[in-house]
Amino acid sequence: MKTIIKNIAEIVGIVAPGVLRKSGAEMNETGTLRNAFILIEDERIAKFGLMTELGEIHADREIDAQGGIVMPSFCDSHTHIVYAGSRDGEFLDKINGLSYEEIAARGGGILNSSDLLHATDEDELYRQSMERVNEMVSKGTGAIEIKSGYGLNTEDELKILRVIRRIKTSTPALIKTTFLGAHAVGRGYTQTDYVDEVCNTMIPAVAKEQLADFVDVFCDEGFFTVEETARIMETGARYGLVPKIHANELAVSGGVQVGVKHHALSVDHLEKTTDAEIEVLRGSDTMPTMLPGSSFFLGLPFGRAKDYIAASLPVALASDYNPGSSPSGDMRFVMAMGCIKMRLTPVQALNACTLNSAYAMGVSDQCGSITCGKLANLIITREMLSLNYIPYCYQTPFISRLLLKGQIINDYDL
Ligand code: NIG
Ligand code: FE
Repeated sequence: MKTIIKNIAEIVGIVAPGVLRKSGAEMNETGTLRNAFILIEDERIAKFGLMTELGEIHADREIDAQGGIVMPSFCDSHTHIVYAGSRDGEFLDKINGLSYEEIAARGGGILNSSDLLHATDEDELYRQSMERVNEMVSKGTGAIEIKSGYGLNTEDELKILRVIRRIKTSTPALIKTTFLGAHAVGRGYTQTDYVDEVCNTMIPAVAKEQLADFVDVFCDEGFFTVEETARIMETGARYGLVPKIHANELAVSGGVQVGVKHHALSVDHLEKTTDAEIEVLRGSDTMPTMLPGSSFFLGLPFGRAKDYIAASLPVALASDYNPGSSPSGDMRFVMAMGCIKMRLTPVQALNACTLNSAYAMGVSDQCGSITCGKLANLIITREMLSLNYIPYCYQTPFISRLLLKGQIINDYDL
């Protein structure tokens, strides 16, 4: 099956084969081509070039981009979308002045979601979670990392991971799975007993059913220590799980240092960062990932993305879609916050939301850029003068067509 996209005003996000992430000054650039076409064969990008060089080509399907831009679909490397119900009651507590930590200390927060999830059966959990996946896809996201972490006992953690396995087979988006048993201490456990349960029972059970690609720990004040994080990462590594770590959301936690030491694929959040974290990330393969949705929703500082880039580091952005600190999976809004609140240029924000976010979930060899051989995960925009318009007019609908794995995604399919 051959599909040709014609009359593209500009392709943005062209990256040479083999480039898996962009660091420092490389983030200031995006490969572009004006007045172009893209040829798709089956699921993948086969060729792109100037309209003037198109010549005679036989395609089974023709799409007229009508002067729109074509960019890679968004990649979202950090979400917690398998949860039950919502936490709208806590939203009011927050408006009335309670902090994230105070809500958690009253038994709200993650434990509240864990109670709700426990009372929800697998089919209903799948139904609610698929709605969120479809919502994200309809907003232009083509690759999603999904974490467990609202189970907080072996049975419920496995329930979440099985739901993610089902999601994988029901969406055209690329899905990666992270086991986040160490999200909070489950009800009825002491801290030590819970970490033992994560290491001795949960990780072996997850590995046995091959339910996850990554292991994550909420390494932060009031949650899990650096030592516990190291132990969980070491156990995960023995079972083939690569670490991705929550660090420095609530305090300077040491999570970045321990994550880098254990070759974490990414360290995420980083709202509270000192120069020491920037220093330790230099020369590592770990992707610093910032989650402006949490900063926005919880009133936390935004990550120091510009300082990271100035230090020649890469930066990825992701949504953190979850019921407590970021109830939105809209990557276009994440891109806009990257520009408006973190002072990234639209090109830097695009790289952070596509190629670098794909790297942070281990799929940048498959998506996150316009590269021959990669999946045809593409956004065709409405007619617009430049890429700047996407984060600038951040509420105006901008997608004309979305293709995932070479297939046109219609809202009514979702
Ligand atoms: O990434 N920080 C830890 N986990 C989530 C919040 C989870 C929740 O509050 O439900 C986060 O912000
Ligand atoms: Fe998170």
